[in-house]
Amino acid sequence: MAAASSHEPLRSVVLGTFIVMCGLGTFWMYYTPTANRSYPCPGVQRDGNQKQQDPDQIPKIHDKTVDGVKQEEIIVLVWMWPFGYTFDLKSCASFNNIKGCHLTDDKSFYNKAHVVVFHHRNIAGDLGNMPKEPRPWFQKWVWYNMESPTYTSRIPGLDNMFNITASYRLSSDIYTPYGSLVELTSDDKSFELPKKDKLVCWVVSHWDVNHKRVPIFNELNKHVKIDAFGRHFGKYIEDKSKIVSSCKFYLSFENSIHQDYITEKVYETLLAGAVPVVLGPPRNNYESVIPTDSFIHVDDFPSLKELADWLIFLDKNETEYLKYFSWREHYKVKLMEFGKEHACRSCGYLQQNRGFRIFRNLNTWFWG
Ligand SMILES: *[C@@H]1O[C@H](CO)[C@@H](O)[C@H](O)[C@H]1NC(C)=O
Ligand SMILES: *[C@@H]1O[C@H](CO)[C@@H](O)[C@H](O)[C@H]1NC(C)=O
Repeated sequence: MAAASSHEPLRSVVLGTFIVMCGLGTFWMYYTPTANRSYPCPGVQRDGNQKQQDPDQIPKIHDKTVDGVKQEEIIVLVWMWPFGYTFDLKSCASFNNIKGCHLTDDKSFYNKAHVVVFHHRNIAGDLGNMPKEPRPWFQKWVWYNMESPTYTSRIPGLDNMFNITASYRLSSDIYTPYGSLVELTSDDKSFELPKKDKLVCWVVSHWDVNHKRVPIFNELNKHVKIDAFGRHFGKYIEDKSKIVSSCKFYLSFENSIHQDYITEKVYETLLAGAVPVVLGPPRNNYESVIPTDSFIHVDDFPSLKELADWLIFLDKNETEYLKYFSWREHYKVKLMEFGKEHACRSCGYLQQNRGFRIFRNLNTWFWG
């Protein structure tokens, strides 16, 4: 032991020299003083004088070389089509200009995919349709879901399976609301209020007396005339947005009441140019995603009679009614693209977050 110790200083010197040499070697191998630098993250701005190439236009996926430099594309494997609906796997540029993604539904990419996206409602209860092969160490699994806990069944065994969550919940890793208000650009035309010939409208596809919205509709209907459409009313419609546009108010009543569960019923109404009368989580939850003066909340009034009276008042007072559209001076509505948005945003997320991550308590987080 004593003999070994006496060699210690010499060993350190040799080892130290070796490390320095290695470092220099690596440095010279990769460092070229004038060449254009490539950044490991796609989508990051490059230095000037390099010709701009749209990554979506480059056909080769692996070991892709641009200007002699290896580049990286994030491979997103769409494991199942959500509810069977397909979407195009082309450019992600419409989502905040996300670039450098290769979306595929080809399962033979499993071993190369950086991220695999799974739609909860398509996951078999026995997990029989989940990947069977071991997961590559670098691969992250995304759980996504846009239904509320009431309409999402719990599946045992999902608690320690995913790395990333994507949903309408604000606390998701990837927040994917049903819609959002985005700033107007100079290309946008100024808003014009659509012609109205109805006061209050409702289109309901899923009539269920156990929904809180049914007794509220029935009571409100006693105090103000509501034009209601859908199978339950024997009035079918072809173009929902056209109907909504022609109404001053639209009942954006959610099928179940849950935190952050603010759906297309609200965003499509805003888009169509009507004022949503919302039933869902409390007002302050809505106020975290849409302007305070863009909607009316059922809870704003002590009774439904008073809500009806307010709607009738607004029908007569144009100045007051138009105040609900003041946000239009600055914003417009962008609707979510179900499935594709989740795949593209997963790619964008990975570009920003490469670290190890496990999402542990899916069940307690989502179902509470
Ligand atoms: C409309 O409402 C405003 C403010 O509440 C009020 O000043 C105005 O007189 C009302 N106009 C009519 C026509 O009722
Ligand atoms: C992703 O989560 C799984 C399951 O919890 C874990 O085994 C795996 O190491 C994680 N991978 C990454 C890249 O974070």
